[in-house]
Amino acid sequence: MSDRLHTLSGYLYEYQKSVSQPEEFWARIADSFFWRKRWNKTLDWNFEKPDVKWFVNGKLNITENIFERQLFTHANQAAIIWEPNDPEEATRTLTYRELYKEVNRFANALKSKGIQKGDRVIIYMPMVPEAAVAMLACARIGAIHSVVFAGFSASALADRIQDCKAKAVLTSDGNFRGNKKIPVKAVVDEALEKVSVETVIVYQRTQQEVTMKAGRDFWWHDVVANESTENKAEEMDSEDMLFILYTSGSTGKPKGVVHTTGGYMVYTKYSFENVFQYSPGDIYWCTADIGWITGHSYIVYGPLLAGATTLMFEGVPTYPNPGRFWQIVEKHKVNQFYTAPTAIRALQAFGTEPVEGYDLSSLKVLGSVGEPINEEAWHWYHTHIGKGHCPIVDTWWQTETGGIMVSPLAGITPTKPAYATLPLPGIQLCIVDADGKELTGNGVEGNLCIKFPWPSMIRTTYGDHERCRNTYFSTYKGMYFTGDGVKRDHDGYYRILGRVDDVINVSGHRMGTAEVENAINEHPLVIESAVVGYPHEVKGQGIYAYVICDMKNRTEENLVNEIKDTVSKIIGPIAKPDKIQIVPGLPKTRSGKIMRRILRKVAEGITENMGDTSTLLDPEVVNQIIQGRK
Ligand code: WT7
Repeated sequence: MSDRLHTLSGYLYEYQKSVSQPEEFWARIADSFFWRKRWNKTLDWNFEKPDVKWFVNGKLNITENIFERQLFTHANQAAIIWEPNDPEEATRTLTYRELYKEVNRFANALKSKGIQKGDRVIIYMPMVPEAAVAMLACARIGAIHSVVFAGFSASALADRIQDCKAKAVLTSDGNFRGNKKIPVKAVVDEALEKVSVETVIVYQRTQQEVTMKAGRDFWWHDVVANESTENKAEEMDSEDMLFILYTSGSTGKPKGVVHTTGGYMVYTKYSFENVFQYSPGDIYWCTADIGWITGHSYIVYGPLLAGATTLMFEGVPTYPNPGRFWQIVEKHKVNQFYTAPTAIRALQAFGTEPVEGYDLSSLKVLGSVGEPINEEAWHWYHTHIGKGHCPIVDTWWQTETGGIMVSPLAGITPTKPAYATLPLPGIQLCIVDADGKELTGNGVEGNLCIKFPWPSMIRTTYGDHERCRNTYFSTYKGMYFTGDGVKRDHDGYYRILGRVDDVINVSGHRMGTAEVENAINEHPLVIESAVVGYPHEVKGQGIYAYVICDMKNRTEENLVNEIKDTVSKIIGPIAKPDKIQIVPGLPKTRSGKIMRRILRKVAEGITENMGDTSTLLDPEVVNQIIQGRK
């Protein structure tokens, strides 16, 4: 059953209802799911603690809502179409029935390895259907999955294993990415020198050589060999944890964002159907990696809950050539295509020639996610990919929000380049000034907050509830603070302006400045560092690092490369600074605080009008920094 809206007036009506009677509104949407036991209170909330519960005391299993609920109608329809890295290799298709059996089989295998409801399981896998099987099998037995993007380093993986005290790691031998074969199991081995888990299950993808530790490491094909394809789903409470996903913030190590079962299920399906206007039979493709929230909500859970066919791509946009995305669109007759501005800009740089040979007439909807989309990229996407007739849904949301919060509904909400437009039903936005005063009316700009709970919102940060309160619910009393700046224009449309905290958005991936600084500081010759973001043509933002170091007898070039390697090793290649400037000192106030405002300006290329620098301990350092600018 679909709760799809079809008209602008329908949207406006529903939005009104969702605000005036939120509980009735969400109860109606939730009623179309399969509950073992219906909830007895739709919402319980307190944003001070915070403590938010949706569909209180409801009992369900999210996979029963993907499979059993719709198997009768969808059994032979493709659930996942998988397109490999190498276009010469065969596509794989799993129907709902086949996926169901694989999930059950693997769920049984996990149980045989002693994994139980509530246990944490790390998934560190490439983009293969088994990664989705792994997530769903965990959900089936009530184990809490935590997917770690397979590009993260051993040390980042070890931190996550330790933080959630995982019992098992699900991984692969290797990963095909473009013309590279990446050792995945070897990274897991390195992580497991520092922390330990009971079980490692290895899916064979690249056939490369790996070491298997007896009694701990098992092949995926061996553990499923004798398992039944039937499995009775574990009964979960609405508020039982479904997964943990680590994300960066402005301070400290990445935190484990916790999502729970009932609300996440209801919101991801509802938002998927409405934003993308998915119709039965459509082929939907989201190019994200399952290691990010986009992959969780809009490759796996949302589409599968909606009975959609979701395409999963193993490779990269430019391999074997920059026409790869469009070749896949043509090959599978993709109807909805969802990607990130950074990918659009990267492909735009190759011109229109790689696009021209392909038939893109199947496309109906284009999506954008992860960072603000600049007008130029928006127009290129609209003209050359959508041929002027596909609405672009610029979807604003976050790991913490679980689902899309502000976005046009495709073909329904009139779009405006670079605007995420209007909130989805149930989403009560609020713009506040620096003092937390709500800015009402149109034509205002400030910080974006949300003043009422929505079903898929963050419940806690794993193992540290105070951190959740402090990060999201303490800046502005009684509200969830997003960390983004926003403008509401004269039409009441929202435009996201980017982070207002110390978070950098590199190619749609969140990096904490403190996290990158800590990694840089691991280099033995580094004394101190300060990291800021700066505008980058393709990545949206690049990472600019100012580093004070003891040069010993290194050349600057050697040292810069060593520092980049250190960051790669501690976090992963995605966190490597684009520019590193060795500086004699940092602009600090007398109280020892780094004046980042100045560093941001210099990184942007602004060298004049530095503002008030009178509180600096040594104002001369600013000139030295300007002179050495990269
Ligand atoms: C941050 C969240 C949500 C999936 C991917 C990123 C930025 C996200 C947009 C957009 C402008 C956007 C925000 C947000 N962001 N989508 N459409 N327009 N900015 O998830 O890693 O949790 O990052 O990404 O700054 O706070 P994430």
